[in-house]
Amino acid sequence: MPDATQTVNLTIDGVPIGAPAGTNLIEAARQHGIEIPFYCYHPRLTIAANCRMCLVETASSPKLVPACQTPVTEGMKVETRSARVKEAQRSVLEFILLNHPVDCSICDQAGECKLQDYYMKYDHQPSRLTGAKKVMKEKRRVLGPLVVLDQERCILCTRCVRFMREVAKEPQLGVFGRGSHEVIDTFPGQPLTSNYAGNTIDICPVGALLSRDFRFKARAFFLTTTPSVCTGCSRGCSTFLDFFDDTAYRYRPRENKAVNDCWMCDHGRLSYRELVTDRALAARTGLRAASREEALREVATQLRSRRGSGKLALAISPNCSLEAMLAAAFLAREALSLEELYVTGRPEGAADHLLLRSDRNANRKGLEWIASAFGLKLRSYTELVERARGGGLDALHAIGAELPLALRDDELSRALADLRLGWLSVQAANETPLARAAQVLLPAATHAEEHGSFVNFEGVIQRFVGAYRPKGASAPHWKLLVELARELGHPLPVPTKGAQELFAALSPRVPELASFQWNAVPRYLKADRAKWAMAAAADGRPAGYRERSLE
Ligand code: SF4
Ligand code: SF4
Ligand code: FES
Repeated sequence: MPDATQTVNLTIDGVPIGAPAGTNLIEAARQHGIEIPFYCYHPRLTIAANCRMCLVETASSPKLVPACQTPVTEGMKVETRSARVKEAQRSVLEFILLNHPVDCSICDQAGECKLQDYYMKYDHQPSRLTGAKKVMKEKRRVLGPLVVLDQERCILCTRCVRFMREVAKEPQLGVFGRGSHEVIDTFPGQPLTSNYAGNTIDICPVGALLSRDFRFKARAFFLTTTPSVCTGCSRGCSTFLDFFDDTAYRYRPRENKAVNDCWMCDHGRLSYRELVTDRALAARTGLRAASREEALREVATQLRSRRGSGKLALAISPNCSLEAMLAAAFLAREALSLEELYVTGRPEGAADHLLLRSDRNANRKGLEWIASAFGLKLRSYTELVERARGGGLDALHAIGAELPLALRDDELSRALADLRLGWLSVQAANETPLARAAQVLLPAATHAEEHGSFVNFEGVIQRFVGAYRPKGASAPHWKLLVELARELGHPLPVPTKGAQELFAALSPRVPELASFQWNAVPRYLKADRAKWAMAAAADGRPAGYRERSLE
């Protein structure tokens, strides 16, 4: 194995560069802003060297060599733009496009397709295929619950096959047939059911593998993106949240070696739907619509009247942001003089062999840190039920509307009615049974609509950047809590207009948050594109065409 601590000196296009020993020519060039085009190469997969798009000229070889498969060597001289290389790039594209259907106008990949990009950059010639018929293959082959394949668009780079075998460790895809009739497919009777199948859509460089969920919903070039975090489980995978016109359309994995490398699971990938379905968008008191201010005043009146009674409790979901948790801890200690917080959140699910965790809540670790720093004891939902049934609880204010019970909605509603609470107010982003049972509902923003941070199960703190403004009358949980504390006569010690100010005001009390730079969010500017390893989708496609969000 080459010693990666040793630097090898070479020249690429006459520019002297240094690269760690063992680096391939694509990466060595990219680190210095020189682009070598590629299809089958992927930094997290084994090298197949089958597409030949990355051919370059070296002084030591009479033939062109694939840059993905060629490591740097001392004194090497590489040409990536010579006439021979340009002719090879053009020929490879002509060959790949020979049987391609060129149905870009109805292809979901249009706008983020490496065939389109490279055709414009390295080929740009009219087709010489006149008269002859293209090889026809299956246009809509459903491979599994999430993935559909257009075999005509496939360039047989085998990235998808290698991913399923090497990363997902579920070899559910293969190459079948010979010559121009070769196709990607599943094995008979064995669909692509892996929880990681969605990653093949990301790494497919063309429009062959597509998401059945996203297909035909939005054109990729209209989407804008923002760095976000998946809240599907306690792993907290780094994501891009793609949105258009104040609606979230999809998550894509964002590279973070400390958390998810550059992958995400399908359970989390589809969890973006919670951001757009069954949203609680208006405040209500009883069955009556109310303004947020009116509803907040009503909650404050009810909580104030029970303050010090010993029969009042605050419950919080471990899916809330650190900012919401800080504000909840402040409200519990300073405004309501409570010593306990009850933990709600989603019920546990099954973990898998790669990323997915059984704890389906994004920020339990953060809650533990904050509760401990504020001297609050965390109690389970089971303890809350026991206390209510024993007559020790009369009023509950819940922050977040999930319950850790794996029950149907009607069963959850009955379980809540059984608690026989005198007062229940809920801050909810979605209309769940808990939200519907509330005497006062305060609509809360999702993490697509606010700025904030989460801590994953390993203690990695991550910022998410809001995509669009809170929908309807909703407001971030932390903001509702700050307003509630003020109504109760205990305003925060400093004026708090934004999540950052709230974090700055309250996080110094939590030792684990002391070194976190709230503002140090990774930026993904198009101008830096040549330097990205895999900043956007798993293969380095740009993060949308417009990098804009609430910030
Ligand atoms: Fe490559 Fe996509 Fe074809 Fe798979 S389906 S071999 S990723 S082009
Ligand atoms: Fe989301 Fe967890 Fe899946 Fe990652 S592993 S994508 S955090 S559900
Ligand atoms: Fe090198 Fe395909 S990227 S041969």
